[in-house]
Amino acid sequence: MNIQTLPTRPFEGQQPGTSGLRKKVTVFQQPAYLENFVQALFDELHGPGQQARGQALVLGGDGRFHNRVAIQAILRMAAARGYARVLVGQGGILSTPAASAVIRRHRASGGIILSASHNPGGPEGDFGIKYNTANGGPAPERLTGAVYRRTLSLSHYQTCDAPDMALDALGSQALGETLVEVIDPVADHAAVMRGLFDFDAIRGLFARGFRLHYDAMWAVGGPYARAVLEGELGAPAGTVAHAMPLEDFGGLHPDPNPANAPELVERMFAADAPDMGAASDGDADRNMVLGRGFVVSPSDSLAVLAAHAHRVPGYRQGLAGVARSMPTSTAADRVARALGVPCHETPTGWKFFGNLLDAGQVTLCGEESYGTGSNHVREKDGLWAVLFWLNLVAVTGQSVEQLVRGLWREHGRCVYSRHDYEAIPTERAERLMAQLRERLPTLAGQTIAGQAIAWADDFAYTDPVDGSRSEHQGVRVVLADSSRVVLRLSGTGTEGATLRVYLERHEPDPARHDLPVQQALAPLVALAEAVARIRPHTGMERPSVTS
Ligand code: G1P
Ligand code: ZN
Repeated sequence: MNIQTLPTRPFEGQQPGTSGLRKKVTVFQQPAYLENFVQALFDELHGPGQQARGQALVLGGDGRFHNRVAIQAILRMAAARGYARVLVGQGGILSTPAASAVIRRHRASGGIILSASHNPGGPEGDFGIKYNTANGGPAPERLTGAVYRRTLSLSHYQTCDAPDMALDALGSQALGETLVEVIDPVADHAAVMRGLFDFDAIRGLFARGFRLHYDAMWAVGGPYARAVLEGELGAPAGTVAHAMPLEDFGGLHPDPNPANAPELVERMFAADAPDMGAASDGDADRNMVLGRGFVVSPSDSLAVLAAHAHRVPGYRQGLAGVARSMPTSTAADRVARALGVPCHETPTGWKFFGNLLDAGQVTLCGEESYGTGSNHVREKDGLWAVLFWLNLVAVTGQSVEQLVRGLWREHGRCVYSRHDYEAIPTERAERLMAQLRERLPTLAGQTIAGQAIAWADDFAYTDPVDGSRSEHQGVRVVLADSSRVVLRLSGTGTEGATLRVYLERHEPDPARHDLPVQQALAPLVALAEAVARIRPHTGMERPSVTS
């Protein structure tokens, strides 16, 4: 094996603060583009010119178009860098939660995950690369920021002139001094699941004829769901639909929510609907859960899992605490209060949960954007959430809908919706937020659009573990009865800006739990319009997506 030093040039790619680099496939196909990022990453991890002696790297992706090309390039660079071992998922496959599990179980120094999550794939779609550290979680901002800065000044990268490695059969091959181990992508994650959930109880559920429909959305969740649900738990063949990971996700948008999974929703509302429905996203970290004729909101899902966690073997000792992102509904807070454990409110994004999980301060965490997880890995985990629900249904004898209605009966219903205004010209969206922030100090005590505002602020967070401070994380306008409107700009969009408006109203009266959600929230929509002047700023009459 000959080490080669090849030219690259500075590339401006990654936005500082984001966990990885996510761009169109065509951008990644530029010569030395991916290599520039990987070289910058290795330089930051090991020091420029320094080797990664003795270390193990985990490598895999969600199988989207360009996955295999990228894996071969990274293998050559890892060998040139002197890694002792690279653990690659068979076929180049590793879901995001599985990569986290592999890093932790094999005590790797970190892992590279190739994914653009739920963004569309294929030659015209998106590609992405991110690094997770030894705890299995996304790289901290100080590392991603340093990598970004280094990508702007590199002139060379190091690789070797070896042929492509065979990735489709399990086993080890030498690449120079580096051992490339092709591993079963499912085994480690499945072992973690087995250690947490009552597989016998779930097996009994399926044996009694319980029907689940799991839509893997032609993405990487398929092999994981199939191996565990059909292979181990006795769910009938065909329980997992769209199970084969396709390079373009069948041309669909692999993001599990009612708007992107209409077939699944239709099926769950049909006369012969199965007992439970579920879906996961491109890299299998997001999840959606449905009952028969019933969609579970992600905020309610987190609250139900927290309320019943002690019924599941892995959480029998109870919860150290719960965490939710600020825009996620306060249902989890109400459950945590009843359980006598803390509930942390963090800025949007999974990385804020990592410190709390590592410090043992929380056990469960979740976001309104279909992400739920626990301290078993350091990423959100789609299949984990589905197994948690199955375990609860099996041991309580209650249906998915009954479990949610039980939550509402005990704590009231947090009626909730998110309105997204997409592809707004960036300056307009920024002007909207700037003017709203200017108005903030005057809002408390005012009655606007018939709503008496108790307080309003721009959410800021001090990490209780490392003391780091994150400001301007979203505007909250809160009423005396704890109803609230939250406004923030998305940090993940690729086209213009997206304004997210989150609406929440607590409804204690069970007689009103089945009122149409949008109707119940209409006064808050009017309040959002009055304080933020969304229509004149965006020129949009209504949100692009309401979920
Ligand atoms: C969105 C979600 C957020 C999630 C992130 C990554 O970010 O809202 O909860 O952590 O994707 O999956 P946003 O576009 O709102 O910044
Ligand atoms: Zn994802």
